[in-house]
Amino acid sequence: MAEISLQNVVKRYGKTEVVHGINLDIAHNEFVVLVGPSGCGKSTTLRMIAGLEDITDGSVSIGSEVVNDLPPRKRNISMVFQNYALYPHMSVRENLGFGLKIAKQSEAEITQRVNEAADILGLDELMDRTPAELSGGQRQRVAMGRAIVRHPEAFLFDEPLSNLDAKLRVQMRTEIKKLHQTVKTTVVYVTHDQVEAMTLADRIVVMKDGYIEQVGTPMQVFNHPVNTFVASFIGSPPMNLLPAVIRDGAVVFSDGNTLPVPARLKDLVSEGQKVIFGLRADDLTPVGHGITSGGESAQLTLDIVLSEPLGTETILYTTIAGNEAQGKMFGPRDVAPGESMTFDVALDKAHIFDAATGASVRVH
Ligand SMILES: Nc1ncnc2c1ncn2[C@@H]1O[C@H](COP(=O)(O)OP(=O)(O)OP(=O)(O)O)[C@@H](O)[C@H]1O
Ligand SMILES: [Mg+2]
Repeated sequence: MAEISLQNVVKRYGKTEVVHGINLDIAHNEFVVLVGPSGCGKSTTLRMIAGLEDITDGSVSIGSEVVNDLPPRKRNISMVFQNYALYPHMSVRENLGFGLKIAKQSEAEITQRVNEAADILGLDELMDRTPAELSGGQRQRVAMGRAIVRHPEAFLFDEPLSNLDAKLRVQMRTEIKKLHQTVKTTVVYVTHDQVEAMTLADRIVVMKDGYIEQVGTPMQVFNHPVNTFVASFIGSPPMNLLPAVIRDGAVVFSDGNTLPVPARLKDLVSEGQKVIFGLRADDLTPVGHGITSGGESAQLTLDIVLSEPLGTETILYTTIAGNEAQGKMFGPRDVAPGESMTFDVALDKAHIFDAATGASVRVH
């Protein structure tokens, strides 16, 4: 069993603290993705779990054992990096088996584990090639194979796909997901790509500046972001975040546009409160052109600045009180700049954040 638990984990480099006492419990077989902007402490956190960085304060446990003082090789975990340095002069088969040979496993055991990994990853045809004779995706698969043969209790991935082109990334993403279903092991996966996080994770951990902002299933962080940072980081295009003030039970924008406060949030805002009104593009759709949820809604008439036809849908750029807002309509259509359109605003999907703290008014 490989639950991983971080308790008040702190990392300081000299006087600079880069991870500020984070707490996280990862269940056996869970796929957890750490996501956040560059420099927020994802790799540092992963490397402390792996034992590649000292833990300044707090504790990391794997299984039920505190591993703070265990060297990496005693932690029974495998790490796959962005730069999957394979041994260039060795064949795929030798690359896969090398770690086991060093660990003095028997020939029979090595052959069996290498064949099993090759089978899982579809490497059978490539076993006698050297890394130079492989594509980027195939090399990445060999790197994963090297991790698999060790039969670790947990896999740690640090941006394993960031050296691959866009198409291959999507393909390998699917393979990693399948791999997790086959090999059923705890996975901690680091990326700054929110789409990767959404598609792979059982639970997403959103980090910023060495803090955990939110932990939840992909749908929880997408539908119930706790603050404006998570709202703008998860989802594409990012959520529209529009400053407003609460007056007489309405959300009032500085250009005079108003919307009713969504019923479910009425009791959570106060007269005169400065807020940020959050609305995803999917929830701002020209009348008659969106999927109406049949929920609470209101209308706004807005001028189009630009349209981007993407084929099955068109992104519409507009402004509310000088702030950019993106809407969406289904189907391709060129909308002329300057055209005025009436939009449905899905109030039942809208969010309100306190302007001073950035926190969702649903969170206290
Ligand atoms: N050896 C080090 N000495 C001093 N500071 C470091 C060291 N390694 C990392 N840092 C700092 O710690 C912070 C977190 O770095 P980390 O590598 O964990 O970020 P990250 O979230 O993985 O970012 P990226 O997405 O760019 O990989 C950064 O501010 C970084 O500059
Ligand atoms: Mg990193």
